[in-house]
Amino acid sequence: MQDSDNDKKYALIIGANGGIGQEIVKQVCAQQRFHTVFTLSRSDAAFSVEGNSKVVHQAMDTSNETAVKAFTKDLKKQGVQLSLVICATGILHQQASSNAEENTIGLKPEKRLEDIHEQQLSEYFRINSILPAIWLQNLVDIVDKKGASIVFFSARVGSISENGLGGWYGYRASKAALNMLVKTAAIEYQRRKPNTSLMCYHPGTVDTGLSKPFQANVKPEKLFTPEFTVNQLLSICTQLDPEKSPYYLDWGGKTIAW
Ligand SMILES: NC(=O)c1ccc[n+]([C@@H]2O[C@H](COP(=O)([O-])OP(=O)(O)OC[C@H]3O[C@@H](n4cnc5c(N)ncnc54)[C@H](OP(=O)(O)O)[C@@H]3O)[C@@H](O)[C@H]2O)c1
Repeated sequence: MQDSDNDKKYALIIGANGGIGQEIVKQVCAQQRFHTVFTLSRSDAAFSVEGNSKVVHQAMDTSNETAVKAFTKDLKKQGVQLSLVICATGILHQQASSNAEENTIGLKPEKRLEDIHEQQLSEYFRINSILPAIWLQNLVDIVDKKGASIVFFSARVGSISENGLGGWYGYRASKAALNMLVKTAAIEYQRRKPNTSLMCYHPGTVDTGLSKPFQANVKPEKLFTPEFTVNQLLSICTQLDPEKSPYYLDWGGKTIAW
């Protein structure tokens, strides 16, 4: 890297094709401070990259450890140091499908103990907890030592202390595991990259494919647009203090009990 590149800021969005992910790309690109916004998704960009010279999109399996290592190693080789990383991946329900492009198992949030199945539970953990853990491991080498924020999309239902309703075993437990992984990693980041803030973010109920089957009982004013929650998130990010990391915050900037 040239000396003049020192002031350039880089962001990385993981899960860029999601309902919330696409909006994150849009709003992060609109921030002048970012020179390049790396975007990752399992498929080609579903959002428009035309006319947006900041976006460098790559299609890869963001849950694949080997692919994650290769990607982060390549950024390191290029001298890229990330100031902002947002991981917007997550699953709550999924249609079973098996064709040439896709081989997914069906997922539906469990209502009762009898609904728990080993394969489904593993899939919740694979995407909601293990994928973020792999990224936490590899990002430590490429976050900007002068200051960085790493955000993982969690959910309020991942709070162990606030669980009064029950149900949704796999989703709840995998988000609680994500929170624990972030909390544990924050202790190590404090030593290795002390200017990094880690955050688990609850976006509220947001009008995307993920919440679609569960929107019937949500009051219209409580169903947020991706635009609203991403705007809130990016404003919260400007106020993070690495000494207080890790955070578990909702869309209003309020702390959620772990
Ligand atoms: N919407 C809500 O009401 C709500 C509420 C609380 C928390 N959240 C959390 O917010 C985050 C974003 O959700 P969303 O509403 O934007 O959902 P969405 O539109 O369904 O997007 C799903 C995201 O997860 C990724 N993903 C799904 N299956 C995957 C797999 N097998 N391997 C790797 N990545 C996979 C997708 O990545 P690709 O780009 O690769 O497709 C995409 O980024 C999730 O963590 C969710 O749990 C959402």
